[in-house]
Amino acid sequence: LAKVELELAAIPEGKNVVIKWRGKPVFIRHRTQDEIQEARAVDWKKLRDPQPDEDRVKKPEWLVMLGVCTHLGCVPIGEAGDFGGWFCPCHGSHYDISGRARKGPAPLNLEVPPHDFNDAEGKIVIG
Ligand code: FES
Repeated sequence: LAKVELELAAIPEGKNVVIKWRGKPVFIRHRTQDEIQEARAVDWKKLRDPQPDEDRVKKPEWLVMLGVCTHLGCVPIGEAGDFGGWFCPCHGSHYDISGRARKGPAPLNLEVPPHDFNDAEGKIVIG
């Protein structure tokens, strides 16, 4: 199972990076404190795919997701849509700053791939 490593220092706060892992795009966002608060203020039990932000991240400031829309697999666009997260232009699905499906046809939240942090080296490891 291939793993991909990335230096966290290369991703400034408030920025997205897209890498490839097993042929799929992976979105990594270095979230701001405001974004973390926004993600956690949502009444997640009312969402179509109910999931608290706390269950989607290992560290609040690092959101890691497959960049594959859960509707029909297009690649959503970052920093877009009505919920401050991602927008899929194929059929108009909106995801929030936790990658949760909020509007449009996407039935599920963006998937979180297995990942871990190597704190000693300041790296994230996907896979
Ligand atoms: Fe994303 Fe249909 S594939 S909205």
